[in-house]
Amino acid sequence: MRFVDIIEKKKNKEELTKEEIKFAIESFTNEEIPDYQMSALLMAIVLNGMTDEETYHLTEVMLNSGDVLDLSGVEWVVVDKHSTGGIGDKTTLILGPILASLGCKVAKMSGRGLGITGGTADKLEAIEGYDIKMTIEEFIKQIKEKNIALAYSIGNLAPADKKIYALRDVTATVESIPLIASSIMSKKLASGADCLILDVKVGSGAFMKDIESARKLAKTMVKIGKHFNKKVRAILTNMDIPLGRNIGNLLEVQEVVQVLNNNGPEDLKKVTVTLASNLLNMAIGKSIEECEYLVNETLDNGRALEKFKELIESQNGKYNSIFRENQSKVEIVKATDEGYITKLVAENIGRSSMMLKAGRQTKEDKIDYEAGIILLKKINDYVKKGDELAYFYYNDDELLKEAEKVFLAGVEYSKDKVDEPTLIYEVIE
Ligand code: URA
Repeated sequence: MRFVDIIEKKKNKEELTKEEIKFAIESFTNEEIPDYQMSALLMAIVLNGMTDEETYHLTEVMLNSGDVLDLSGVEWVVVDKHSTGGIGDKTTLILGPILASLGCKVAKMSGRGLGITGGTADKLEAIEGYDIKMTIEEFIKQIKEKNIALAYSIGNLAPADKKIYALRDVTATVESIPLIASSIMSKKLASGADCLILDVKVGSGAFMKDIESARKLAKTMVKIGKHFNKKVRAILTNMDIPLGRNIGNLLEVQEVVQVLNNNGPEDLKKVTVTLASNLLNMAIGKSIEECEYLVNETLDNGRALEKFKELIESQNGKYNSIFRENQSKVEIVKATDEGYITKLVAENIGRSSMMLKAGRQTKEDKIDYEAGIILLKKINDYVKKGDELAYFYYNDDELLKEAEKVFLAGVEYSKDKVDEPTLIYEVIE
């Protein structure tokens, strides 16, 4: 088989066979073919797409390129969650303990943040002592004993995806539904859960900017899941505005505790409860209404919060460190106009938070766990010029003024209120 013939075939919009896809991915992963040939194939896929069958084959080859977790020894149903990433998205840290407190086995691997979106691994590291690195054996043992493990990159999962993603990142070939869907699902399938909820974010602060493409991505991922006999459901949720009020690692963990204490912002609670109820519904088969009742009950009676504490202690974290005094300097950002707030553009807020060093611009950047933003106002709040809009927490003021400019460029005012933003767009099964 010659790699050039595979490129030629895809260029001519022909369907690749399983053998051809396997050959292409394996020979690239084994460094038998150069980056430029793989880049050409990826570009042909971006331009000409892939059929469902091709997408399944690609997922299968990538998923089998490294470790595949065997969680069959874990009694009871194993659940997992994936978010395509957003600003202020800390739902995993609430949903995980909720499901674990209800008896599900939560096996969650989380990544670090890059660019404007945060990563759960970074948020966990804002908790003093929390060890995000575990061996496969430790991960499985903790799931069995505590019902939940939240860790970073266990074993060597889907290395082919890692290598291909690095190339896609520098060859403008990230934006392709089959490539994104197979990339995400190969890692999730290798993680071994029975049920998976996908939070596909839509809007300015998300990877998918419009409903149409988000729906396409969600449907493709759900189909892949079904093909591999997993229960998978996707929910399209709003990421035009940040979720909750806190953006930045420690600040977000503090907001997680608020929601687990049954306080906290309503939008964050609503999205989390919807995701959690749908995941529970897949896991135990009770109706969505019953599952929603159980999810709210475990928030009300404090069992989810107890599970969160137990999780942190199991991974050597100090729960009380979440409430440490934030040593950062604080800048108060003020309204530049009067009226109802009608826009708080998530992308701008994510970028300004990154400039405060709450996020990384490049993989090598160090982040400041205590930096970030607290939003004092949200959509339809009325402000006068000079009223406080947000607190910026920072230690490095190199980009402070620029961050403020970017933030304020994302705020719009009007004399009239707007319709309350839709938080949940649709559920895709
Ligand atoms: N996240 C992934 O894991 N893969 C992609 O291709 C895009 C986003």
